Amino acid sequence: MDISSILQGGYQHPLSRSWQARRQLTKGMLMYPIFITDVPDANVEIKSLPGQRRWGVNRIEEFLAPLVKKGLSSVILFGVPVNAVKDGRGTLADDPNGPVILAIKKIRELFPSIYIACDVCLCEYTDHGHCGYLNADGTIHTEPSVARIAEVALNYAKAGAHCVAPSDMMDGRIKSIKRSLIDAGYGNRCTLMSYSAKFASALYGPFRDAAGSAPAFGDRKCYQLPPTAKGLARRAIQRDVGEGADIIMVKPALPYLDIIADAAELASDHPLACYQVSGEFATIHAGAAAGIYDLRTMAFESVESMLRAGATLVLTYFTPDFLDWLSE
Ligand code: PBG
Ligand code: ZN
Repeated sequence: MDISSILQGGYQHPLSRSWQARRQLTKGMLMYPIFITDVPDANVEIKSLPGQRRWGVNRIEEFLAPLVKKGLSSVILFGVPVNAVKDGRGTLADDPNGPVILAIKKIRELFPSIYIACDVCLCEYTDHGHCGYLNADGTIHTEPSVARIAEVALNYAKAGAHCVAPSDMMDGRIKSIKRSLIDAGYGNRCTLMSYSAKFASALYGPFRDAAGSAPAFGDRKCYQLPPTAKGLARRAIQRDVGEGADIIMVKPALPYLDIIADAAELASDHPLACYQVSGEFATIHAGAAAGIYDLRTMAFESVESMLRAGATLVLTYFTPDFLDWLSE
C-alpha cells in the first residue's frame, strides 16, 4: 500500500476524530428561538414543534432557569399576540406592554448573563400577515415598511435587546436600522444581525403555526429569495455587509450549505449565523420517530454540517437538547 493511500491512521481514536473539525460545536454558539405570547400565564404546547411551547411573560423564569443552569447563553425572541387585535401597521410589534418588550425587560432582570436577540418583523403583528406594508395592488410598499421596521428595531434596543435581527427582507432595512440605532445613541450598544439570505422556503410551516404569522393571502416570494438564487443570495450578503450588518445570517440552513459557504467567503470578517428552521427541526424529529435515524446523531450531524460550511453561530430549537448532550 502506498503511504499516501492511508488516511485511517489519522482518525482511529475519538479524540483524533474530533480534531478533524475546523470548529467544535460549543454551547456559546447556540441561540435558542423562543415564543412569548401576550397571555401572561401561558404555557402552551406547540404541536408542530416537538417539545417547544408558547410561554407567557410570567412563566419565563420557570422556562429559562433550568436552561441557564445548563449553560444557555442566548435567546432570540418571537412575539405571538393571540388576544390583541392586529392592524395594518403592526402596532403590536413594539407595544410597550406587548410580549417582546416585556420579555426583554424581564429576561434582563432575571438572567443578566443571557444575550437577548429579537427577531424584527411585522408578519406576526399585521392583520394581513405580510412582513411589510402593502400597496393597494398587494405589492410591498418599501419605504414606509423600512421606516417602521427600523422604528420597531430601535424600540427593542431601547428596551434592552442586545441584538436586533430583521427577518422581513425589505430592501434597504439594514442601512436604515443601523442609521436609526446610531442616531439614537445605540450604535455601540446593539448588534445588528441581518437575515441576509433568507429563502422563500417550504420549511417555515411549523413556525407560522407557532407564531400565527401565515400571510392572509398570497405568499412571500416577492421579498424572500427564490431557492435557486445563488447569485441573489451573494448580492444580498454583500449588500448587507455594506449597509452595516454586524452578523450575517443564512436561513434555512441544511438545504443551503452552499450559501453558508459563500457567506463565509464573502463576509469572512463577520460572524456567520444560520437558522435551522422549524421545518428542519420537525423533519429531523419525524425521521427519528419513523426509525430512519437516531435523533441525537442526526441533530449533531446536521448542525456540524453547518459549522463545516462556515457557520459560527446556530439558531436552533435543539438548543435545550444540545445543552444536555454537550454536558455529558
Ligand atoms: C418571520 C420569520 C419567519 C421565521 C423567522 N422569522 C417565518 C417566515 O418568514 O415566514 C421562520 C423561522 C422558522 O421556521 O423556524 N419573518
Ligand atoms: Zn415576517
